[in-house]
Amino acid sequence: MNDLNLQEWLSKIQQCSSSEEVNNVEKQLFHKEHGIITIAMAAVSAAPKEEKKQIATTVNAAKQQLTEAIAVKISELKRPSNEYLLTHEALNVSTALPSSLHGHLHLIPEFIANVEEVFGRMGFDTFYGPEIETEEMNFDMLNIPGTHAARDGHDTFWIESNAPTADKGYVLRTHTSPCQIRYMREKTPPFRAIFPGKVYRKDADATHSPMFHQFEGLMVGEDITLANMKAVMMTAIRELISPNGEFRFRTGYFPFVEPGLEVDMRWQGDESASREGKWLEIVGCGMVHPNVLANAGIDSTKYQGFAFGFGIERMIMIKHHIPDLRSFYDGTVEFLTQF
Ligand code: PHE
Repeated sequence: MNDLNLQEWLSKIQQCSSSEEVNNVEKQLFHKEHGIITIAMAAVSAAPKEEKKQIATTVNAAKQQLTEAIAVKISELKRPSNEYLLTHEALNVSTALPSSLHGHLHLIPEFIANVEEVFGRMGFDTFYGPEIETEEMNFDMLNIPGTHAARDGHDTFWIESNAPTADKGYVLRTHTSPCQIRYMREKTPPFRAIFPGKVYRKDADATHSPMFHQFEGLMVGEDITLANMKAVMMTAIRELISPNGEFRFRTGYFPFVEPGLEVDMRWQGDESASREGKWLEIVGCGMVHPNVLANAGIDSTKYQGFAFGFGIERMIMIKHHIPDLRSFYDGTVEFLTQF
């Protein structure tokens, strides 16, 4: 490990003036048997248990920095010099240019793509509703009347509107459930669909953010039961988070379902001892309330169905052992490049 003087190696790479020199340094670092990094990596598994993690983090960080520095140097050396350009054609379309840096999808859209894929395989359609919703869709149509306590409980962001048609207010949707109404009004049962997207509530701490993501699921038909709901949800949780995640169903109250349930997942991370072994609520669900079906023009004596609304950030937190939800939004490159 003492040989691993990172700064010294980085400046060695920086000083290289030919690709042979770079190759040479690369060999000293990464040779399959006596490369300094190779040896350091081997030392990790031999290290005492309590030091292992710390050492592995240092070595991995060094490895990554060195690999990047080498790639940057190589592309720098490939770049045609001004002198070359002056003595050759001014426009050379075949000159190899340094490759540009590529980013990747943020954890959240990446997870949503995965959700769409997993549910797509189970025959679910995907539909996106608006983030600015009418008060009517966000609450009334979902069996949450004006006087209902759940309306306050949602800590809603209200929007002022002078639109002539606005006989009711507008809100930033507090959940993806209004998509249920929009979708059902356009389709004839049987159908099944998911509705992913952003939702807004006045909340901020380690497990809440004023903007976060949910995906709603809805399945309506003539013989849909809670057992179907449980099967679909368990398949999704296992595929999206982990095949051996522990979860529990318990009763919960949402005016737009009857009966209503909530599902908690056990926190599995070891990074934050404070959360170890605790349960985190990740989804509300239940059988769609007959009033909601009626509001969407569906005959509730003939059809029934289930709905669920998953909290996306919380699922990712459990999957990757991320202790604080706010890390998703602070834009720290060290955080983002880990995934
Ligand atoms: N909309 C609820 C929420 O925001 C979740 C939910 C969706 C509950 C569908 C039941 C059915 O928390």
